[in-house]
Amino acid sequence: MPGEVDSKLTVYFGGRYMPLAEANVGILTHALHYGTGVFEGIRGYWDEEYEQVCVFRPVEHFERWKKNCGILRIGVPRSAEDLTAITVELVRRNEFRTSIYVRPLAWKCAERVGVSTDDKDAFTIVALPFGDYLPSDKGLHAGVSSWRRIEDNAIPARAKICGAYVNSALASDDARRSGFDEAILLNESGHVAEGATCNLFMVRHGKLITPPVTENVLEGITRDTVMELAERELGITVLERPIDRSELYVCNELFLTGTAVGIAPVVRVDHRPVKDATVGALTGEIRRLYFEAARGRLRVYRKWVVPVDLPQREPEPEAALLATTRS
Ligand SMILES: Cc1ncc(COP(=O)(O)O)c(C=O)c1O
Repeated sequence: MPGEVDSKLTVYFGGRYMPLAEANVGILTHALHYGTGVFEGIRGYWDEEYEQVCVFRPVEHFERWKKNCGILRIGVPRSAEDLTAITVELVRRNEFRTSIYVRPLAWKCAERVGVSTDDKDAFTIVALPFGDYLPSDKGLHAGVSSWRRIEDNAIPARAKICGAYVNSALASDDARRSGFDEAILLNESGHVAEGATCNLFMVRHGKLITPPVTENVLEGITRDTVMELAERELGITVLERPIDRSELYVCNELFLTGTAVGIAPVVRVDHRPVKDATVGALTGEIRRLYFEAARGRLRVYRKWVVPVDLPQREPEPEAALLATTRS
């Protein structure tokens, strides 16, 4: 889990770069009271060998963000390409030599009381060092939540709407306190929707199956990535169809996908083993492919990665002295 954030971090806020400590909003901000914001989550993976941060599918993330902001009538007056350029600049200015998480957020910024919205919008982009989100190497124990996934006609789950994350927070908190690593939410039809912060895939009868986007799920970019990798690289048929809760208990493999969680195998659900409670072969293969693709190591998928080279480091005083003595 991520730790405390350095207040000296450079962020993008109010149209300029500034220290995190100075990037503040007023306590009457509309989004703070009513949840009227839309956020996004993007990963950058540190590549030790090339000394690069590989930002994964930023243009697709920013395009999704801008479209979903439209659901709340929030305008982001920059193109996905401009927003990607701001992200690259944040990586350079902060000189990250580690994997990172990028958090764009746009919100209704009027400072007044009253739920109806107007056209005053703001946005920010913050990038921070970020390690593993869930301890997923050996596989997770997931629990089906008693909380139901929000319905499209209440708050659309397909967008990362701030207020909607109360649903995820309730389920996730409950799951953790009950000893599970992650919550799986059912929708009002009783079908499996997704995890609190991730999409879900299961393997049954040799097919990879995930709920369709009409089942109240976020239209995940990792989900899309997995579908393409499975079909193109592994020749596996991916089915989008409703999943019953009890299918989770009888499937051969189960895993969760998301920008923060990556590809996280689930080896137990509701105290029942998924097959023999070990990471399945297909899950392992998809995990490996995703890891490689996200670091720009698969030529066909380099289109997904924006590599950010970092400025050369000043040599340590001792090393500089040695270099001068040697020449
Ligand atoms: C509820 C929910 N579902 C699914 C996902 C996965 O989406 P993506 O793969 O685009 O990160 C997320 C990501 O944050 C999420 O919050």
